[in-house]
Amino acid sequence: MKLAMGSDHVGWELKQEISEYIQSLGHETVDFGAYSSERTDYPKYGKKVAEEVASGQFDGGVLICGTGVGISISANKVKGIRAVVCSEPYTAKLSKQHNNTNIVAFGSRVVGVDLAKMIVKEWLEASYEGGRHAKRVDMIDEIASKE
Ligand code: RB5
Repeated sequence: MKLAMGSDHVGWELKQEISEYIQSLGHETVDFGAYSSERTDYPKYGKKVAEEVASGQFDGGVLICGTGVGISISANKVKGIRAVVCSEPYTAKLSKQHNNTNIVAFGSRVVGVDLAKMIVKEWLEASYEGGRHAKRVDMIDEIASKE
């Protein structure tokens, strides 16, 4: 898979470790910033990664800020994006299976490196189940398409 990655300054360090981990699982990552711990604004990176994922050039995205909240809210403003913020692997897995999430987000101030790896692994390995969930996911996407 090809994954787009983004973070703010707070998530930058964890992003490096998670990017290397994703690559060790055999996937490709492209980092859209931030590229240092210099103070910056998470909406820029949430928007950029969301637009890249929505364009269809990536199989998904990974976003990290302090809590994962601000950057995932920003990503969810982009049409076609279903971003989940989670702090444990169960939600990550179910969000892909039931909600067809295309971005996973978490907080570097909330989860440690090992838990972040577990979250990402579960999310990457899960598949959307469709079926009874499809109508509901379509309903979510219709909300954005009415804008
Ligand atoms: C930055 O201080 C912090 O607000 C940001 O990383 C994130 O937690 C926002 O949701």
